[in-house]
Amino acid sequence: MVYRLNDPEFLADPAPVLAQMRAEGPLVQVKMPIIGTIWMTTTDAASRTLLKNPDLFRRDPGPITGKPLSRRFWWMPGFFKPLLDTMIVKDDPEHRRMRKLVELAFARATIEDLRPHLTRTADALLDATPTGTVDIVRHYTRPLPFRAICALLGIPEDRHASLARRIAPISAVTNPVLAVFAIFRLRGVLAEFRDLFAEARRSPGPGLISALVHAEEDGSRLTEQQLLSMVMLLFLAGHETTVHLINSAIVALASEPKLRAHFVENPDTRALMIEEFMRHGSPVMTTKMMFAAEDTDILGAPVRKGAQIAPLLLAANHDPARFDAPETFDPERRPNAHLGFGFGPHVCLGMQLARIEAAVALERLFARHPDLQLSEPARYLNRPGLRAPAGVKLML
Ligand code: HEM
Repeated sequence: MVYRLNDPEFLADPAPVLAQMRAEGPLVQVKMPIIGTIWMTTTDAASRTLLKNPDLFRRDPGPITGKPLSRRFWWMPGFFKPLLDTMIVKDDPEHRRMRKLVELAFARATIEDLRPHLTRTADALLDATPTGTVDIVRHYTRPLPFRAICALLGIPEDRHASLARRIAPISAVTNPVLAVFAIFRLRGVLAEFRDLFAEARRSPGPGLISALVHAEEDGSRLTEQQLLSMVMLLFLAGHETTVHLINSAIVALASEPKLRAHFVENPDTRALMIEEFMRHGSPVMTTKMMFAAEDTDILGAPVRKGAQIAPLLLAANHDPARFDAPETFDPERRPNAHLGFGFGPHVCLGMQLARIEAAVALERLFARHPDLQLSEPARYLNRPGLRAPAGVKLML
């Protein structure tokens, strides 16, 4: 059987299909938009096997199949190429070298320093949010992570509005036509980043963009292409995903009175609750695809050299062999070793930032509007690889 992850019934209640997948074995076939049919893991153990063997399961298909990733996307416009060349699709040593350049900026302590700024930003956004029926995504849950990544990168405020406008079509991609439209709109984002690199070269400023522009590596600086790849990856990975985590948490808290009471009454356990939102909701359902470097197997399931394979993080996070009663939302689940941020060398660089953003967003919203209600049931977006509630409208 070939599964599809964008089926609305699956997104709303994945448990029955996940059980069916597990019954088939550690690997199943899944049809992904644009990419085609690939293998996906169905359990926590199979996902970890895949993610912890980067020499066997490679990001770059070039050396294995003779066809590098860029050749698969030959139809993409030239200006888009930096996006096909980010560290997320690279293997070591290149990946390790790139990641090292930005790792320090994402250290727990550095990110913790952003908390007061995020709290002020959340309060200012809520001050400007009308009451009554409100599109909370537009007013709050999208701008907050956007401003967080802008702060980290050092993007000045006078550029926020134009960048937000240019990036918006990415969030609306639900089919290949909209994907092509969004790709063309990204051209303006890349042009703005080039301007920012030029400004940082003229006069170094605060933030990661300036640090990267001036980073010396073995006596040489990053090329313009390398800078664009890195900054675009951080910019895109850094806000879209967190919006979905916050939205899914708001939907759950607004729909389930017991959960809301737990959240409001137990500030000390909110961090555990956010991990459970990550596990239960799994806003990013899978990682980038990998390619088998040789004929091998995953827990006995054969994998041919060159096969395309990815872990289904959602399935791992709902695996009864790993989690007791995985379908139950346990606000104090401990331990909670979910794979929602990935695992292995490419594990999410921004996970501390995402956790703090979610904590601040929920805390400030529910402090101000403890009685908020959903004004209509949220549906799930048809977005490849994401489990993202859309149209989250609240009565404030
Ligand atoms: C709830 C929010 C988030 C979720 C669920 C999430 C999830 C993930 C996952 C699953 C991966 C692994 C991808 C792979 O192996 O192919 C990843 C990687 C990554 N994430 Fe996140 N992420 C979130 C927030 C962020 C934020 C706020 C940033 C900030 C810039 C960020 C930056 C990155 C980067 C740069 C990588 C690639 C790391 C590498 O290739 O070494 N993420 N993320």
